[in-house]
Amino acid sequence: MYKAPRGTVDILPQEQVYWKYIEERVTFLCQLYGYQPISTPIFEDAQLFARAVAGGTDIVNKEMYTFKDKSGQELALRAEGTAPVCRAYLEHGLFNSPQPVRLYYIAPAFRYERPQTGRYRQHHQFGLEALGEADPALDAEVIELAQRIFVSLGLSGFSIQLNSIGCRLCQPKYIEVLKHHYSGYEEQLCPDCKVRLSKSPLRLLDCKNAACQEIVKTAPQMTNYLCDECQAHFLSLQKYLEVMGITFQLNYRLVRGLDYYTRTVFEVQPREEGGQSALGGGGRYDNLVEQLGGKATPAVGFAAGIERIILNLKRQKIDIPPLAKPAAFIAYLGEEAKTEAMKLASKLRGAGVAIIGATENKSLKAQLRQASAFGISYAIIIGKAETETQTVLLRDMTKGEQRSIPSGEVLTALRQPRPQVPDT
Ligand code: HAM
Repeated sequence: MYKAPRGTVDILPQEQVYWKYIEERVTFLCQLYGYQPISTPIFEDAQLFARAVAGGTDIVNKEMYTFKDKSGQELALRAEGTAPVCRAYLEHGLFNSPQPVRLYYIAPAFRYERPQTGRYRQHHQFGLEALGEADPALDAEVIELAQRIFVSLGLSGFSIQLNSIGCRLCQPKYIEVLKHHYSGYEEQLCPDCKVRLSKSPLRLLDCKNAACQEIVKTAPQMTNYLCDECQAHFLSLQKYLEVMGITFQLNYRLVRGLDYYTRTVFEVQPREEGGQSALGGGGRYDNLVEQLGGKATPAVGFAAGIERIILNLKRQKIDIPPLAKPAAFIAYLGEEAKTEAMKLASKLRGAGVAIIGATENKSLKAQLRQASAFGISYAIIIGKAETETQTVLLRDMTKGEQRSIPSGEVLTALRQPRPQVPDT
């Protein structure tokens, strides 16, 4: 027996209600803020992620799904959504459109991680990116939109963690101070942090290892080393968030797992859990477009994992509106009635009424059981007598009442908010 590959899941019909719900809210709210949809290919030149996300990160070093196609080109499945959007921004000259360009996407991403609750090898993200401006008002807009999406989904109790990690000017100076803080502690560090110390020192700050956390406690804070411009940017962002009524927690240990960030970084953490389970995260990436070959283009964005949102919707027992059921089930008895049933089903569907038609020659009882199992409110029953009189029996499945009506009136009856089954 084949199974879905490790770390991937089938999204069965009963789960789709969550997906449709999230897609609908995300789409509505992104468009409310002027974000336009964009779709990029599921695979890209592997170098795009290697350059954008950078070599010091697990995503590039350990988790990318890379492969060579038949022409020998090295490709990678989408590891995240920001680099492909920047690539598309450059490739299609979106820098010529009025800036900032606001884009959103809902797409799968692939990372070869150790599967566990809320962590998959194929997961799905919704993301938003605003490219072309450095104004902290844009950072505030992105954070507000992220929060509004979670609130509109019904989630509560999450926190917004915020930090600034500076720019090309001030970050290297801070890294020197940070490395200095770590000198003498090298032997006590976990194996990952030993590598981080030389490859991506900022990541030392969010290590979960107990011994490393002790060293972090006394580490210098980036926000004390920001240059004047970064400091002003960060203070303005906080002021905007405050006036918008958005509660956030400053977290000097927040650095994110991708190397392209500058200045603002933020994460949305669910009520119950620690750092391994962020609902979403984002920040500013003012150097990324330039790094990919474009002009200097400041930008900011955010992405959230849909599987993690669903996990939290279930944990918080949020009621999700059910997907619409077909309006009626058509049952028949006998070959002649079957022909009538098929004719009627086709006519009703043609008029935009959702119908499930019985198939195979089951007993009427079995057919009605099937209608109940599908959760359909009405059954239309056609037997020999109905075929001869051009009528049908319209049965209210909840009340168990039924009444004969002319075939020509079925459409009108089903279109009423709740078709009346008249008294006999
Ligand atoms: P990220 O933090 O790597 O950021 O991923 C965004 C979100 O995707 C995470 O917060 C998490 O909810 C979800 N996620 C990540 N990996 C997995 C996984 N293996 N299984 C399930 N869910 C997962 C980015 O990807 C950036 N591109 C975000 C961004 C957009 N920054 C600026 N613009």
